[in-house]
Amino acid sequence: MNSSALEFNPWNPEFRSNPYPFYRQLHDGPPRLINLFGQVALVGRFADVTAILKDHTHFSSYQTRPPEMEDNGPFRGATTMLFSDPPVHTRLRRLVSRDFTPRRIREMEPRIREITNQLLDDAAKKGELEVMSGLANALPVMVIAEMLGVPSELYAQFKHWSDEVIAGGNTIPGAPLPEHTIRAGDELRAYLFEAIEHRRKNPGPDLISALVAAHADGETMTEDELLAFAVLLLLAGNETTTNLIGNGMLALGRNPGQMELLRRNPELTPRAIEEMLRYDGPVQSTSRNTLSDTEVGGTMLTTGTGCFVILAAANHDPAQFPDPERFDITREPRDHVAFGDGIHFCIGAPLARLEGAIAIGAALARFPKLRLKNPDAPLTYKGSYFLRGLSQLTMAVE
Ligand code: HEM
Repeated sequence: MNSSALEFNPWNPEFRSNPYPFYRQLHDGPPRLINLFGQVALVGRFADVTAILKDHTHFSSYQTRPPEMEDNGPFRGATTMLFSDPPVHTRLRRLVSRDFTPRRIREMEPRIREITNQLLDDAAKKGELEVMSGLANALPVMVIAEMLGVPSELYAQFKHWSDEVIAGGNTIPGAPLPEHTIRAGDELRAYLFEAIEHRRKNPGPDLISALVAAHADGETMTEDELLAFAVLLLLAGNETTTNLIGNGMLALGRNPGQMELLRRNPELTPRAIEEMLRYDGPVQSTSRNTLSDTEVGGTMLTTGTGCFVILAAANHDPAQFPDPERFDITREPRDHVAFGDGIHFCIGAPLARLEGAIAIGAALARFPKLRLKNPDAPLTYKGSYFLRGLSQLTMAVE
């Protein structure tokens, strides 16, 4: 396949509505170099994607954005673990990793069930389940808010800030961030700054208090890093899990046989969640910058090359997943890369898996006739290519 034949335009809504046929072109050969605001590499084979993710000495997670975007972005230039390399990454991740262990996360299970059941009660009253507004949008943001120790009743406000900031991440490189995106980032930061100050004086059993304490112990998170981490959690822990629930419900709705199989065999739920993550992952792609000339799968990536490390393409690579376009909840589990790989592997994976399993499991148990309300209606995806998710998905429950 000739590189010039590739048309990669993640800002085009049509492309975003179904990028999977495009990914097939990436499976046929080594990473492709294309011109997209400068030379970038598109990496889509499973072996190449995992090679880059595991190699943080040659591939950096630091972002090379224009300074004006950095200054106005949600982190205002502060370092976060997602966008850093060792030793900074190691320090930041170590400070928070104890709060995300599977055991700590399991303690949240009763509360996640309670929130889910309240949301499903509302759907039962309405006679239909609007998956996004009625379940997928609210649950993750309420859980993160409670985890941070900020009132979950404000979840609609958090969701608004988070949507605005995430949409800003889709701005074409070099273009200024929209005013309303900058404003939303300012408001979110101001709110979290106050919450941190409050917790400093009134510590509680929440994550912000734990992070403040780690900082006060003379450990190693600066004020700016602490605020940036709270912002990161609200963004990273929110839209992603929302889209796991939304994309997962869509996959079940389009494959009623698989939905029935899962309903009859709820013990398959963990496996089904992995298949949803593989089949239509919430994070389509991440990025890295090449630190020194490095060969990947037969292509030389010279120093400074930006790489689109396309996780969703890797998850559809037939060399790793036979018959990749088939949604099959009984698929033999094989490591997918929906949560990344290497040192940046998603720290929230246990929480996302738990929330996904509870939300989807409870919806199936509660509504035996659950199905897509309008199977032929066109779907609308939200504005971001990197975070793939539906604006709306209505399911009939009776
Ligand atoms: C289905 C839901 C989720 C998906 C698909 C997802 C996906 C990812 C991916 C692909 C990465 C690695 C990015 C890279 O290597 O550049 C990542 C990192 C991260 N995720 Fe998630 N995530 C999800 C849920 C969550 C949740 C619930 C939280 C927090 C509560 C969270 C917090 C983070 C953080 C803090 C990082 C940075 C880790 C590091 O750099 O060491 N994520 N996530």
